[in-house]
Amino acid sequence: MNNEPFWYKTAVFYELYIRAYQDSTGDGHGDFRGAIQHLDHIQSLGVDCIWIMPHYASPLKDDGYDIADYYQVHPDYGTLEDFKAFLDAAHARGLKVVTDLVTNHTSDQHPWFQAARQDKNSPYRDYYVWSDTGTEYSDARIIFLDTEASNWTYDDVAGQYFWHRFYSSQPDLNYDNPQVHEEMFNVIRHWLDMGLDGFRVDAIPYLYEREGTNCENLPETHAFLQKMRRMVDTEYPGRVLIAEANQWPEDLLPYFGTEENPEFQICFHFPIMPRLYQAVKSGDKTPIEEIWARTPDIPKNAQWMTFLRNHDELTLEMVTPEVRQWMWDNYAPDPRMKLNLGIRRRLAPLLDDNKAKWFLLHTLFLSLPGTPIVYYGDEIGMGDNIWLPDRHGCRTPMQWNSEKNGGFSNAAETYFPIHTDPVYGYQTRNVAVQEKDSTSYLNLMRFLLKARQSVPAFGDGVFEFVGTGSRSVMAYTRSIPNQTVLCLFNLSDQPQNAHLNLPDTFTDLLAANPAMQYQLAPDGQALKIAPFAAHWFL
Ligand code: BGC
Repeated sequence: MNNEPFWYKTAVFYELYIRAYQDSTGDGHGDFRGAIQHLDHIQSLGVDCIWIMPHYASPLKDDGYDIADYYQVHPDYGTLEDFKAFLDAAHARGLKVVTDLVTNHTSDQHPWFQAARQDKNSPYRDYYVWSDTGTEYSDARIIFLDTEASNWTYDDVAGQYFWHRFYSSQPDLNYDNPQVHEEMFNVIRHWLDMGLDGFRVDAIPYLYEREGTNCENLPETHAFLQKMRRMVDTEYPGRVLIAEANQWPEDLLPYFGTEENPEFQICFHFPIMPRLYQAVKSGDKTPIEEIWARTPDIPKNAQWMTFLRNHDELTLEMVTPEVRQWMWDNYAPDPRMKLNLGIRRRLAPLLDDNKAKWFLLHTLFLSLPGTPIVYYGDEIGMGDNIWLPDRHGCRTPMQWNSEKNGGFSNAAETYFPIHTDPVYGYQTRNVAVQEKDSTSYLNLMRFLLKARQSVPAFGDGVFEFVGTGSRSVMAYTRSIPNQTVLCLFNLSDQPQNAHLNLPDTFTDLLAANPAMQYQLAPDGQALKIAPFAAHWFL
């Protein structure tokens, strides 16, 4: 395992949904014991760290992001011993593991909320945020727009309104109460004591509420996050904290904190993601250049985290209303594909199952600054099921082989139906089939991750755009002392001429792949670049 202190700066992550991975008990739900059987698969991709979606006891109104007991594993997933066995097995393979930590809210089934609602004088009453009128903080936006009409919900038992930024079954905790800080710190200790490598801390912009603000990114929130980091650094040095804050780059910067008062080592860079899709659809690099122009420099030991897809809808919160509409028009032709301010589809269907576009998008994603995360199933181009409710259509069982239930489970029924359609069905789209095909998504992913991992400059290198004289041709360098990679892409489906100087000698790291081989030809004074071509010149 890489125990170098800043390992996360050059790492690649894999997002794992335990329920979807492998059912070892025959109940139709994946579990930790099942996931252990597939650690070889995860390792074979060439990733360094696994992020597990919430594994806690929960009524699953928000698929585990509604926690009813922070100290227990959801019984569908196994026991604390099973969790520990998974952790140890991952570590034995050199893989680190982080889990979600949901700090902003609990489930309404959590004993704290149950005690709070039943007794105004209970010490737990003040763990949550209450109102007699439900009119306060009216400048705070509603996030789950398709289901929630207000951030306040009246609770008959309590006789008051309670505050929630997500589903009304997820009451927000009250961070003005220092007791809540202590509770959360004890939760952190419980899991880090078991050897966990860190947390992806969920929904952190919303911890505090203040009248007259939008209740996001408040100074009080940053003060708490600094306190949390201090605790972790003191008691568990070397563990990593990742900020999930869906915000503009300038509002993300403070989540890294300062040298004296750090907050997170890593922050998700949400705004870059939709712009990558915009660029490959429009054949125009401008949106990518614009968002990097707006992205501040980050502290020396900090890192961005990037992704193409995850377990949520492809969020369009960080684009203008015009771009959002353009993205919906281009990527969500069926109204069922839209959800809140986003698109509930998986990567391969978004790209029309076009491997050249998939390859191009990944070569961008894996060479731009940031620690990339691969979402489970996207390594084999899994499909989505837009007819399932909420975001579940992107959380269906992993497709291992063409046997019953794709090898995921031998139960009569699985937690969600596995894909059986002619294109994305498990019968043909599965790990076993793709293992044997050198041009499969799976083997391309392995090829790309290996190529990325062989170039330290991709982890930590200085990033600089290079002019090409064409909006469709993007070029940039990533460099560290003694290593420079020039990355060159044609974002369009037509050959393009570009003007740029290539070094006298170089190796194209992408040229060795069996599926996508792009010729680069001189054309007079220019270079002719093939449609959707990608080159990484070392
Ligand atoms: C998670 C969502 C979840 C929400 C509320 C988000 O940031 O990614 O899946 O519904 O937080 O916990």
